[in-house]
Amino acid sequence: MTTFIDPKSVPQRKLYTGDTMPGIGMGTFGSDRFTPEQVSAAVAGAIESGYRLFDCAAVYGNEDQIGKVFREAFDKGTVKREELFITTKVWNNMHGAGDVLVSCAKSLKDLQLDYIDLFFVHWPFANYHAPGCSVDSRNPDSRPFNVEKFIQTWRQCERLVEAGLVKHIGMSNMTIAKLEAVLPLCKIRPVAIEMELHPCFQQPELFDYCLTHEIQPIGFCPIGSPTRPDRDKTPDDIADIQVPELVEIAKAHNIHPAVVCLKWAVQRGQVPIPFSVHEIEYVSNLKCTTEDPLSDKEMEILKSIDKNNRLIKGQVFLWEGAKDWEDLWDLDGSITK
Ligand SMILES: NC(=O)c1ccc[n+]([C@@H]2O[C@H](COP(=O)([O-])OP(=O)(O)OC[C@H]3O[C@@H](n4cnc5c(N)ncnc54)[C@H](OP(=O)(O)O)[C@@H]3O)[C@@H](O)[C@H]2O)c1
Repeated sequence: MTTFIDPKSVPQRKLYTGDTMPGIGMGTFGSDRFTPEQVSAAVAGAIESGYRLFDCAAVYGNEDQIGKVFREAFDKGTVKREELFITTKVWNNMHGAGDVLVSCAKSLKDLQLDYIDLFFVHWPFANYHAPGCSVDSRNPDSRPFNVEKFIQTWRQCERLVEAGLVKHIGMSNMTIAKLEAVLPLCKIRPVAIEMELHPCFQQPELFDYCLTHEIQPIGFCPIGSPTRPDRDKTPDDIADIQVPELVEIAKAHNIHPAVVCLKWAVQRGQVPIPFSVHEIEYVSNLKCTTEDPLSDKEMEILKSIDKNNRLIKGQVFLWEGAKDWEDLWDLDGSITK
């Protein structure tokens, strides 16, 4: 018997449009480790458990299986469409004229939906890499970020809103420099930015920038993505759930360190989207947002363990001639060309 957590007891976030979204959701990227069947089975279990937000993407290669799960849940009456908040994303090879609309239409068909709640531009450039390629490979067609090209992609997202196919639009893997360049050009502003956020990578400047601009931060890899693909691992990476201060807090609350990461995320104000195929984990990930909050002192301790440790560095999206992965993230405050 699945544990049910009343979705009304889960924190909600208000978007600048006045709409709300759940304060925590479930990720659906199988990280090249978990099959579409495992991921979609977890989505089915998660709906039964009370999850109402699901973070999907065309590139995760499992939207058709997840769509079957949504259809069954609606048909069985487990949940109504309007009770779910479903995101998806256009992948880097579909930024061209008309392609965003094609990508959205495919996601709608696969997910068996007639609208998407929040549609993201997954990465801010059209740099494609072959699935499974090595971190050193460079696509000769890859280019640095270009404002005009990004806005062409964004205009297509705006058309999806105008056509009623998408309720809200958002960006992902952005920097303050890129946002400064594109926000003034948006006819429809992003309601949310999806970004890497976990205790050892808090991105305080970008996080505050989003809040100041009424953009909801959505945090991916909220547990530090212990099962991320090998191509996203480097020897210097820090495992959030092994950091002694965090482990101490977990012991004090008698919970797994992963759950501490999620309590911290929700209390800080971002929307974490943890992934797990294990029922015991995904249930505790949702339940933890409804009980036993961290104290102000614990929140302060967790704030202090930020190590600026980016895990998803994006090497495979680099263009020929780029120095290293830091070029993707505009570390000197201006857009790297
Ligand atoms: N926009 C983007 O570019 C982008 C990039 C990356 C990810 N994302 C999104 O973010 C989601 C989450 O990221 P992620 O999957 O990389 O990382 P994550 O949620 O930080 O880590 C997932 C792993 O943490 C472990 N875990 C989860 N709950 C746990 C618990 N209660 N106790 C112990 N271990 C637990 C599981 O490993 P075990 O199976 O070993 O237990 C699971 O595979 C993705 O699914 C995707 O939707 C978006």
